[in-house]
Amino acid sequence: MPVDRSLVARRVAMALAVAACLAQGAAWAEPVPASEAAQRGYQLLLQRQDSGCVLCHRIPGLPVGGDIGPSLEGLSARASAPEVRERIADPRRFNPLTLMPAYLSLTGLTNVAQAYQGKTILTEQGLDDIVAYLMQSDRVRP
Ligand code: HEC
Repeated sequence: MPVDRSLVARRVAMALAVAACLAQGAAWAEPVPASEAAQRGYQLLLQRQDSGCVLCHRIPGLPVGGDIGPSLEGLSARASAPEVRERIADPRRFNPLTLMPAYLSLTGLTNVAQAYQGKTILTEQGLDDIVAYLMQSDRVRP
């Protein structure tokens, strides 16, 4: 029986295309290494008692997350790093009635326990690290 060369050629082309797709898929799935700041931010986010973000938000790469606030998936596409930082530092600037705590502010607090007086929830460094993770979290896995 004569071999239909065009059919063989088409099958080979198809197999090559599938292999190329699979190879590309593997490359896309390969995580970009997170920066050191983003890795520290990830650790802060994991320790619920230090940040509490996952009580209210789903965050890409984090194993747990809440639904009280919006999911932070795709955040870097809708906000810049300084905007995100300002939002976390004091969300009351955007919504005076927000449920979200002001992580870098001491104003407007009442009945603060002695041990916490004069201390913000996050340090400047901690906030910067969390912002670094959030801005990369759709692309990296720590
Ligand atoms: C008690 C619940 C709560 C906690 C804890 C909380 N948030 Fe929020 N967050 C909200 C809510 C609710 C909103 C929606 C806007 C608003 O009400 O201010 C929000 C909005 C945001 C936004 C804007 C989202 C967008 O899509 O633009 C960011 C970013 C954010 N939070 C980050 C954080 C980070 C980071 C932490 C931890 C350091 C945190 N939040 C902790 C409730 C919370």
